[in-house]
Amino acid sequence: MLNLIKLANNNFLSSLDTSREEVIYLLELAKKMKDGEMQHIELKNKVLGLIFDKSSTRTRVSFQVAMSRLGGTTIDLNPTTSQIGRGEPIKDTARVLSRYCDALAIRTFNHSDLEEYAKWSTKPVINALTDLEHPCQALADFLTIHEEFSSFKNVVLTFIGDGNNVANSLILCGSLLGVELRIACPKGYEPSPLVIEKAMELNNNSHNLLKIMNDPQEAASGASVIYTDVWSSMGEEHNKESKDKSFDGFTVDENLLSKTNKGSIVLHCLPAYRGQEITDEIFESEKNRIFEQAENRLHVQQALLACLIN
Ligand code: CP
Ligand code: NVA
Repeated sequence: MLNLIKLANNNFLSSLDTSREEVIYLLELAKKMKDGEMQHIELKNKVLGLIFDKSSTRTRVSFQVAMSRLGGTTIDLNPTTSQIGRGEPIKDTARVLSRYCDALAIRTFNHSDLEEYAKWSTKPVINALTDLEHPCQALADFLTIHEEFSSFKNVVLTFIGDGNNVANSLILCGSLLGVELRIACPKGYEPSPLVIEKAMELNNNSHNLLKIMNDPQEAASGASVIYTDVWSSMGEEHNKESKDKSFDGFTVDENLLSKTNKGSIVLHCLPAYRGQEITDEIFESEKNRIFEQAENRLHVQQALLACLIN
């Protein structure tokens, strides 16, 4: 049995809003919740507001189910039917909603808009994905990796694709946990320099734990986990054609998997474009832990909510 803790930070906007100890605790709590061991934790009558400026299946539904399992509820604040779509200032929306809701989970484009919500909200704000980060996804990813390998020691996590929000949060959360990370992307599509700088600080400036590479074959060599995501994220659809060309050679396929360690697994945050960033064959192969990973969104978010709203 674990005692429930309150996170030191009121918000979860970035993977860096938790300490190393807090991430380890959240993963442990999530696993216990998944195993049905923490049923006494309740958020009875608590309300989570969901503001999603972009589409979502997993994040939206896993937050709804997580609140429901904890005895609370959610309100889906669709920007097109609320005054958010009309352009009501974030600072007004945040001050009003935090008088009704106990927390807000927000998916939007600019990370600075999320920070503006957090600045004006008196209740916890959770990043449900911005252009910069997807920290809830990273928690689920590391829970999935820990379930597979029982430890992060000796795990080599290789992300092949765009240096996007998912890659940024993997880098930050992975650096907190001391996981060896390789990011392979075409030149010009590297992760945020600020994120790399913060990760290097966490790694005491050692170049052994985080490598940014441009050769997917080299990055896959000896990897325990191959992770990929779409080449064009939501909001980048206009660039898709030219981006697809830049990512030629970055498809996760059988040849790439043949370079990895025996016992390696494949992750994808979903939704996927089969035949682009990953072949259908690898997506459906016995190496795939993609649906365990999707399920784990629910468990980590349940743990996160319990530690933020209490
Ligand atoms: N992985 C993820 O965040 O999926 P959704 O866009 O469906 O929420
Ligand atoms: N990088 C993707 C992740 C989707 C969950 C996007 O932002 O669209």
